[in-house]
Amino acid sequence: MAPLKIGFKSELDMLKFKNLKKDRESIIKSGFVDNIKYQYKTNEMIEWYHPKKIRVRISQIEKETDDTKSFYFVPVSRNEMPPFQAGQYVTLSVKIGDNTYQRAYSISSSVSDLKAYRLTIKKVPKGIVSNYMFDYAKEGDTFSISGPSGNFVYSSIRDTKDIIAIAGGSGITPIMAMLYQCVNFQKPANITLLYGAKTEKDLILKREIDELVKKNDNLKVIYILSEETRNDYEHGFINKEHFMNLDIENKSIFVCGPRSMYDSLNTIFKDLDIPNKYIRHEAYTDIPDFLGNTEYRLTCKTQDKEIVIPCFENKTLLESMVEGGIQVPIHCTVGVCGFCRSKLLEGKVQTDKSGLREADDHANFIHPCVTYPLSDIILELPF
Ligand code: FES
Repeated sequence: MAPLKIGFKSELDMLKFKNLKKDRESIIKSGFVDNIKYQYKTNEMIEWYHPKKIRVRISQIEKETDDTKSFYFVPVSRNEMPPFQAGQYVTLSVKIGDNTYQRAYSISSSVSDLKAYRLTIKKVPKGIVSNYMFDYAKEGDTFSISGPSGNFVYSSIRDTKDIIAIAGGSGITPIMAMLYQCVNFQKPANITLLYGAKTEKDLILKREIDELVKKNDNLKVIYILSEETRNDYEHGFINKEHFMNLDIENKSIFVCGPRSMYDSLNTIFKDLDIPNKYIRHEAYTDIPDFLGNTEYRLTCKTQDKEIVIPCFENKTLLESMVEGGIQVPIHCTVGVCGFCRSKLLEGKVQTDKSGLREADDHANFIHPCVTYPLSDIILELPF
């Protein structure tokens, strides 16, 4: 058994502590008085690879179809754009009048070319930003965009070696970047693309797709026209028969297009017993076409105040908030990131719940970026 120590232990401890305190005081006094610089290599690398915002300039504009243009954005104060994964999007901030609107657009260019990001933007009826970009944006204009984000990307760990890609209309944009990735890096090894549009001239980037397919055996494309009959095309909407002729067994399927296309494809996938684990959907919002222009009252409750502004049946609650001077945290603008998640305390809305968690839906949360008012509204904001 160890001998029991007794004596002046506690007094000695106090003495040690007093000396320690003096030592520490002198060390602190002799220390730096300047602020610590934020110049560590790691921080610089994070800012380079994952910037929150980048100032960009339009270097070139190309008209793709009657209602679609491609914009090439080059960085203003760095030599190239940050790396991204094929299928990702950026959020473009556009100042129109006194307000700054934000919209998410997929990058349609190749991950191998970081001189510029190409955003291919289709003008949609009542689309504030898309109409502005199509009608007014010109070469030399500067904008702010977010760093790339989004999970609609091919992963060789999770996805199958060969994939089927399905695009409707402007849903081709993230898939275009995937075609380049397939050609340049064989990830995935092969892509079969089903691409639907109303008419041949609505097939965005068709010439570029045809060039790629002509030069690369690992790409195959089937065009499907819903409102025009032409030789060498499939017709109607993408349906079960189109899949019957493909080898779809155990293949990842990437889908990007209008909501109506998702709904009909989901029914087809169920009929064909395709497990959910093979299906990847890109978020995509349609502006409902039944909207009128009735004005309502939107009451926004924050932690310390209550703001009342007008809101309109044909604008998302987020757009009305931007116009009313309320800055809500946002990112994706298509109802999936959850940044703008707010609680609906009162009122009737038309909303897209596909990006909401079930628990949030039960607790009456909504994403104002994809919600239209159908009455006066009271919202509790997330700040
Ligand atoms: S901004 Fe992403 S959910 Fe609204």
